[in-house]
Amino acid sequence: MAHDHSVVDKVQSLNDIVEIISSYIPLKRAGRSFKALCPFHKEKTPSFIVNPDKQIFHCFGCNAGGDVFTFLMKHENMTFPEALRNLAERVNFKLPEQSSRSKEEVSKQQGLLAIYEKAYEYYRSVYEDSQKGARARQYVKDRGFSEDTAKAFGLGYALDAWRGLFEFLAKKDFPQSSILSSGLIQRSSDGNPYDLFRGRLIFPIWNSQGKVIAFGGRILTSELPKYVNSPESELFKKRSELYGLNLAKRHIPDTRRQLLVVEGYFDLIRLHEAGFKNSVATLGTALTEDHARLIHRYADEAVLVFDPDAAGEAASLRGLDIFLEEGLNVKLLTLPAGFDPDDFIWKKSREAFLERLEGAEDLFDFKLRVLNKRYPKDDSLGLVKVTTEIMDTLGHVKSQILLDRYIQKLSEAMRISEPSIRLELNKMRAKHRIKGENQTLSNRVAADPKFPADNIEATIIALLLSNTALIGQASAEIEPLQFRHPLSRTVLETLIDIYNEQGQSFTLPQVLNRLPDEATKAFLSRITFFEVNDAECEKAFRDCLTAFTKRALKERMDKVQGAIREAERNGEETGMLVREYQNLLLQAK
Ligand code: CTP
Ligand code: MN
Repeated sequence: MAHDHSVVDKVQSLNDIVEIISSYIPLKRAGRSFKALCPFHKEKTPSFIVNPDKQIFHCFGCNAGGDVFTFLMKHENMTFPEALRNLAERVNFKLPEQSSRSKEEVSKQQGLLAIYEKAYEYYRSVYEDSQKGARARQYVKDRGFSEDTAKAFGLGYALDAWRGLFEFLAKKDFPQSSILSSGLIQRSSDGNPYDLFRGRLIFPIWNSQGKVIAFGGRILTSELPKYVNSPESELFKKRSELYGLNLAKRHIPDTRRQLLVVEGYFDLIRLHEAGFKNSVATLGTALTEDHARLIHRYADEAVLVFDPDAAGEAASLRGLDIFLEEGLNVKLLTLPAGFDPDDFIWKKSREAFLERLEGAEDLFDFKLRVLNKRYPKDDSLGLVKVTTEIMDTLGHVKSQILLDRYIQKLSEAMRISEPSIRLELNKMRAKHRIKGENQTLSNRVAADPKFPADNIEATIIALLLSNTALIGQASAEIEPLQFRHPLSRTVLETLIDIYNEQGQSFTLPQVLNRLPDEATKAFLSRITFFEVNDAECEKAFRDCLTAFTKRALKERMDKVQGAIREAERNGEETGMLVREYQNLLLQAK
């Protein structure tokens, strides 16, 4: 969601990061900065620094960092708009209504919400009608659900008629145009409006605040399609909603902050009815980062309950890395083949499900097991494949505690010593960093083992921040796409944008506010700790540019050289390539 930069900058400038952070954790003065034990990882000596001049924080232990928004988002699990609202409220700043959206869009959304609310009432009333709803109620009963459950989930019924909802809405004085744009009413080729849902049991989909934002409809016969859903809209994005969260969020025990994740409507409803109320559903889509983030707002552990078929397996393996990246604990509850959670509890028992829940396997173990099955272990190539794939997963693990536990597990399972696993992991991480060129400044950057990016690129950014006048020159000589590290590339693009709009006078928080995600913010906050004095700056910048061009040239030459070898092997023409190589060689001189 895009936010108005000027509003964000204003709210930021009214709040002092030291004051905000110290309202959550005790800060101790250390020179011009403040120190604390990092709230984002376990540590005994403080490596969490707050810099009041730059209005940023950074932890040199776990590399978390950013501005005051980042802090609230991480510490309080807020979304950006929530952090913005929170900070605005602290200083009695009145946010322009919905700063990110125009008035027109807001009223469109409210119109949509009103229609969905009315449609919900309509489907409910049909369902409850002693005659009209009889078939739907019988269906629900036949599937073994109580009327209390139907009520709790607001189940409704769409009559098997063409214009039931349409006429109801038209009578409620909604303008025809909004009715049609709701997606609940379609238009035939000759322009006649008709209901999207006909002869279907209706599941209202609430967002986490309890507003109806979409519907699902299940056919009561064996016709196809089994499910129809209302379309995605301004209000409803399938990839970022979880069905049932509005109910589940009130049932997450403090002692075990766990959420169960299933796929289907009835799976979710069955779990709630059986007392597993800390459950949500993805509605058949693959798990996304948005889902992981949403889950993490309410829980620390996700238990994925999926069919044990191939799709389920692939889905949960993919899910693993997303969840680990988010810092969540992940477990997998597998069911016997042919059962979904609904069937399982209905045909077996809630106790049988509870037993499986208690035996839920850590997703890391699951992945290890699946990979081991896929590649034979006694074959050394298989061993390499398993370790490489699992290493890749380890690379995503945010939490040090979890990482230690996984390394131990991997060591036991594969009979590889822990030190060699750590060594491999470090090697893998080092590959993402490029060896330091012989420059004083980049050596300083390189000396930090936690530094996540390429030295020349990071150094160039550090220099541009120290002397913003250099940005004009940089944009003339470097094409951001030439930056090989995505984080530094994004920062460079942002610097050039802001420079083009405002010239050289802008603040660091303004830059931070434009960065698209927290990883980039943490990266930039880290770089700002490499201070450069003015005298050193221009000279260092020239050196960097030279080194950068040299490196780009060298990369190109390596590529061409590779292509020449390949062509020779295949007995192909090499003349063009050789000429290009000679050209590059000349340039290098
Ligand atoms: N789904 C969907 N559209 C489809 C099929 C599935 O939106 N055409 C979503 C629904 O949320 C559904 C979930 O994916 O609940 C899982 O699909 P499936 O396993 O096929 O259905 P069940 O939930 O088991 O439905 P039922 O028990 O009613 O047969
Ligand atoms: Mn089912």
